[in-house]
Amino acid sequence: MKVAVVGATGAVGQLILKTLERRGFAADEIVPFASERSAGKELPGYGTIQPLTDETVVGYDLALFSAGGSTSKAWAPKFAAGGATVVDNSSAFRMDPDVPLVVSEVNPEAIGDARKGIIANPNCTTMVAMLPLKALSDRYGLSEMVATSFQAAGGAGQKGIDELAEQIPVVGKDVDALVHDGASAAALATPSTFAKTLAFNVVPLLGSLDDNGYTDEELKLQNESRKILGLPDLKVTPTCVRVPVMVGHAIAVRATFDQPVDLAEARDLLAAFPNLVVDDVPTPLEAAGRDETFVGRIRLDLSDPKTLSFFVVGDNLLKGAALNTVQLAELAVASVA
Ligand code: A2P
Repeated sequence: MKVAVVGATGAVGQLILKTLERRGFAADEIVPFASERSAGKELPGYGTIQPLTDETVVGYDLALFSAGGSTSKAWAPKFAAGGATVVDNSSAFRMDPDVPLVVSEVNPEAIGDARKGIIANPNCTTMVAMLPLKALSDRYGLSEMVATSFQAAGGAGQKGIDELAEQIPVVGKDVDALVHDGASAAALATPSTFAKTLAFNVVPLLGSLDDNGYTDEELKLQNESRKILGLPDLKVTPTCVRVPVMVGHAIAVRATFDQPVDLAEARDLLAAFPNLVVDDVPTPLEAAGRDETFVGRIRLDLSDPKTLSFFVVGDNLLKGAALNTVQLAELAVASVA
């Protein structure tokens, strides 16, 4: 079993390597790939970082990609043509009808539809919502959701983590300005990855705006949820917000079903779902570094018995990216065994 990890120097790529090791993935050889900037350097424990060339991408059983959409678009089909099953963490192929979009606990059977030899890993925000929605939808029939995300800096990769870490001491040093003149506190930092200064702030614009007033990140939440849950008519009202958290995406979900919801039964369904933990007050800080997804604040709507609200939190780098990627690799290996 020869495994390529593409984007091995990035925030998610590093975690893919760790997760393969932690789960005892049966690889004979793991080969790191990254950009031309890194190629030729040593990655401790994994040897020389390889560049992506027509020659280097041939002969793998598996290729796990987390190097951005354009790299995936150009190179995932070449790895597949060279013999690999590709698990791609970018948005490049997620909505391709010949590429399954899979959450390992939710729709593992879809892995058999990998007609291009590529399996897509969902967006890290969508991922967090899928476990509780699947648990409830199987019983009550999900028809509609309003989903408001609180997304960590780490969703933007290492550069997002670095930008927030750099801003915190700079913006935080003048508490008086933070309290009385926020605009001058915000001006102490120069945003680059995020639309506005993120430290001590909340930024309600994430990704690029479409003509309809929604961002691409928000449309991913709609389109990917429909595909993963197999609900093409699901109505979704998404709002994606960046918050000054390093790791751990949270979503406040208001979900409406075809049938009235029994609160006690809903809690039981959520608690029984694999890798989902019911926690009265789930927070990103406590979810960071954990494999499970945490759901709490579960409550019936005050006016609609078919509507349930809850707050769900997951580690965007682990379940939202690296862990699910490795779980999909495990499923792919099991499906050919
Ligand atoms: P590099 O470290 O050489 O730039 P993150 O999302 O944390 O920023 O990580 C992105 C990952 O994708 C890194 O490993 C980065 O490698 C890799 N990468 C970025 N652009 C390319 C490219 N054009 N070809 C291959 N790997 C790339």
